[in-house]
Amino acid sequence: MNILIVGSGGREHALVWKLAQSPRAKKLFAAPGNGGTCALAENIPIAATDIANLLRFAKEKNIGMTIVGPDDPLALGIVDAFRAAGLPIFGPTKLAARIETSKAFAKMFMGFYDVPTAPYRTFIDPEEARAFVQAHPLPVVIKADGLARGKGVFVCKTREDALIALEKLMGSGAKKTSPSAVVIEGWVQGSEISLHAFSDGKMSSAMPISMDHKRLLDLNRGPNTGGMGAVAPIPWILPETAARMNARIIDPILRGLSLELDPFVGCLYPGVMLTENGPIVLEYNARFGDPETQCLMRLLKTDLIDICEACIHGELQNTAIAWSNAYAACVVLASVGYPDTYKNDVPIKGIAHAERVPGVTVFHAGTKRIGGRFHTAGGRVLGVTAVGDSLEIAIQQAYKGISRISFPGMQYRRDIGFRAIYPELTS
Ligand SMILES: Nc1ncnc2c1ncn2[C@@H]1O[C@H](COP(=O)(O)OP(=O)(O)O)[C@@H](O)[C@H]1O
Ligand SMILES: [Mg+2]
Repeated sequence: MNILIVGSGGREHALVWKLAQSPRAKKLFAAPGNGGTCALAENIPIAATDIANLLRFAKEKNIGMTIVGPDDPLALGIVDAFRAAGLPIFGPTKLAARIETSKAFAKMFMGFYDVPTAPYRTFIDPEEARAFVQAHPLPVVIKADGLARGKGVFVCKTREDALIALEKLMGSGAKKTSPSAVVIEGWVQGSEISLHAFSDGKMSSAMPISMDHKRLLDLNRGPNTGGMGAVAPIPWILPETAARMNARIIDPILRGLSLELDPFVGCLYPGVMLTENGPIVLEYNARFGDPETQCLMRLLKTDLIDICEACIHGELQNTAIAWSNAYAACVVLASVGYPDTYKNDVPIKGIAHAERVPGVTVFHAGTKRIGGRFHTAGGRVLGVTAVGDSLEIAIQQAYKGISRISFPGMQYRRDIGFRAIYPELTS
């Protein structure tokens, strides 16, 4: 069948890479794709958020299945639009995606379904929010209600920081006519992990547990980013613990969404803090995580077309999903200045050379191909992934791959996966 992948990051390249291995894949299209996807798929210059044109394209090219990478098309209702036109699409409806697109809604829903999460309150009045943070124990965490491209969460160590965050999110002064809600919640400490599960709306199938690295710099310092690297699975999380977490964190929410909004079809990805008192859910995402997916696709043995089709048709129960026993690591190479401003169009060297390191596959994110060469075209440029029989080997091979790649202003973290091997290194 012809397949359309919506998005342009490392996640989408990893999905395209996996789909391209399926004997069932006829022609792949990536909209808009990147410098890596164009080797395996045809890049189509339609933005991920341009739903009308994506729909027109899918009809025209007889697309048998569409897979949505990023959050914004889901929030805009791409799944509703495709379904209404009778086109199979992997992802949740606008309503079901609310578990990600509104943090206030997600917190309330977690309360209903008894999912462990940090204590919180939601505010639409800036005055009341300010009064609340004045009395809240520190650190305090302040979150924009809606999608904010990773820039809507402030972990505040002082009252001043909290007031500045509120000012940014709500403005000052009196109640606004169209209020921006914020969630203010307690700070929790521990190791942060990512759960991912396929869902067909009725049941779920959990993927290996992974760990993203959101902060820009080593030792989890610097600003939050879209993800600087990931590893999977986490060696010290026992299968029983994983099963318990899925039962407590994924299944009740899927049941609730099905009862109260829309059955959730797609990938549910809760961000979880493993604390001394057990797992605490920080948020739910209604899609694949970016660096995590680059690891997960390296470990998935089953045909991804079969899985997505089973999810779309409510047949996950009849689909066995197999994962490799190996470990995977992904280290993101970013442009200097990311996550703020950075230069594009810088030539990249050594990608093919890096892929000759055993176990290494390089996924593209912000790249474009010019003739036979690659140039940077984004903040996160490449995801260098590697698989190995242990997490140590996977990480070592990924860094060996990186040593062969260079571009002016290349930056990356040197400690990807260290906390997945040594959880006592929390910071
Ligand atoms: N209650 C909390 N306690 C400690 N850290 C938190 C808390 N909530 C969020 N964080 C940190 O902030 C990051 C971003 O928060 P998250 O809720 O995942 O929002 P988003 O991914 O939409 O920006 C998390 O990955 C986590 O590191
Ligand atoms: Mg998050």
